Amino acid sequence: GDGATVPALVIGTGYGGAVAALRLAQAGTNVEMVEMGMSWDTPGSDGKIFPKVTSPDQRAYWLRTKSKAPVSNFFGFPIDSSIAKYTGVLDAEEFAGITVYQGRGIGGGSLVNGGMAVTPKQSRFSSILPSVDAAEMYSTYYPRANAALGVGNIDPAWFETASCYQYARVGRKHAARSGFPWTFVPTTYDWDYMKAEQANTVPRSALDAQVMYGNDYGKKSLVKTYLASALATGRVNVSPLHRVTSVAPAPAGGYTVTMEQLNTVGTVVATKTVTAAKVFFAAGSVGTSKLLVKLKSTGVLPGLNGEVGKGWGDNGNVMCGRANHMWDPTGKLQSTIPCSGIDNWDAGGAFAEVAPLPTGIETYASLYLSITNTTRRAEFSWNPATQKVDLSWQTAWKQDSITMAKTIFDKINSKEGTIYRTDLFGAYKVWQDGLTYHPLGGAVINKATDNYGRLHGYQGLYVIDGSLIPGNTTVNPFVTITALAERNIEKIIATDL
Ligand code: FDA
Repeated sequence: GDGATVPALVIGTGYGGAVAALRLAQAGTNVEMVEMGMSWDTPGSDGKIFPKVTSPDQRAYWLRTKSKAPVSNFFGFPIDSSIAKYTGVLDAEEFAGITVYQGRGIGGGSLVNGGMAVTPKQSRFSSILPSVDAAEMYSTYYPRANAALGVGNIDPAWFETASCYQYARVGRKHAARSGFPWTFVPTTYDWDYMKAEQANTVPRSALDAQVMYGNDYGKKSLVKTYLASALATGRVNVSPLHRVTSVAPAPAGGYTVTMEQLNTVGTVVATKTVTAAKVFFAAGSVGTSKLLVKLKSTGVLPGLNGEVGKGWGDNGNVMCGRANHMWDPTGKLQSTIPCSGIDNWDAGGAFAEVAPLPTGIETYASLYLSITNTTRRAEFSWNPATQKVDLSWQTAWKQDSITMAKTIFDKINSKEGTIYRTDLFGAYKVWQDGLTYHPLGGAVINKATDNYGRLHGYQGLYVIDGSLIPGNTTVNPFVTITALAERNIEKIIATDL
């Protein structure tokens, strides 16, 4: 409560925050978690906690009055609709050159993501986190993260028959015919539940167009894994609808953390302070970077070093669709959880997941989200005129990612005699080049922090989320964020408590 003193405070309840809270609590430390989003535990009038991607309502978006779907058009027509302003689960946060999608609520990005739980190839790890010992990560921390996240593999025999993965089988066929390596990817979805959804013996979620605005049943979000274990220790308290605005050195030691309590239309209803001996920044790449840049620039934490705000990347995200022939339908029932990818990283710099387009009708479209090896990095900076944090990303930089993604899809199109869809991201627009789902960096490990996430300049301040990773993970990022957090918190518990 207001005015309290706590040993450890964690800002944010996504992957980094959940790992920190669980391990600190298991080591006997009481933990206060502060989360700006809601607790997603109560069904609405439709009996569901979350809306479908095909019918967003107020629950879908963080304080917007109109939806902002990544696939914004269909046959060229805009599909975004008016919604009531509400503290919804998905934030489409707009910077000058890019929209950054992020989860809001207890569980962070695990509430809204596709559940693709991919461990990068070990041979590529030194390019991702050069200062981190790869052998240790692959022998200890990746396995620990995968186990605690409940990562599992699709049954390959079932995959061959399930109508909800026809789109993925079409994706595989096209990749193979063009000579590209195709691979299953593990996920945090409960695969037994997925089978039961296909058999229609349980309420559907992945097979009922739920994903980006939340999933009611089969996905093992952090609420079902790390956060459930953390709460079960009895040492963790979580405050939803509280947004941290300041972390300042306290006169008697530790840090004064200031937070605003929000109501569900985003109005500040109270301001509180808590004093914490240790503060863990786990507000996500954007959330942590914005806080640190503001606190350094406004003189609250002037001792943070010049690396704060730097090294931000979009994981090279770019989307495209292909128009298939009428004899290659992708299926009207599509699981929202992707299960496969095309790996052309070494030859062309792109790893493309075969994504669903869960409209409920046959679209003859193949949709892909590519992760590419772009070297573009942006910087967050404080804008005194607007009193906000800007990001220097430029939309034109996505051309690098498009060029890499084209190494896959130009070849497939030429082999199949097909073309790109031009109607999904605007009228006559082939590439969705205005967004990322995978913000990374802004407080890079071994630069803004030491090699375990301790912020330079201030004892007792730590970064433990995606902002530690400099811009790219070669694959979907949350397993790497989780594994790095496991590594760092183990060291911090052993040496700093
Ligand atoms: P995360 O963003 O998870 O958590 C940060 C938390 O802090 C949030 O809950 C936020 O509300 C809170 N917060 C922020 N500022 C705050 C403040 N000032 N005060 C209090 N709380 C604050 N990855 C992957 O590996 N596989 C996938 O399939 C996908 N798919 C996907 C789809 C979509 C639609 C999105 C948006 C993202 C993905 N991702 C993904 C990305 C993945 O979800 C993401 O990388 C992680 O959630 C990032 O974890 P972090 O711990 O860094 O922060």
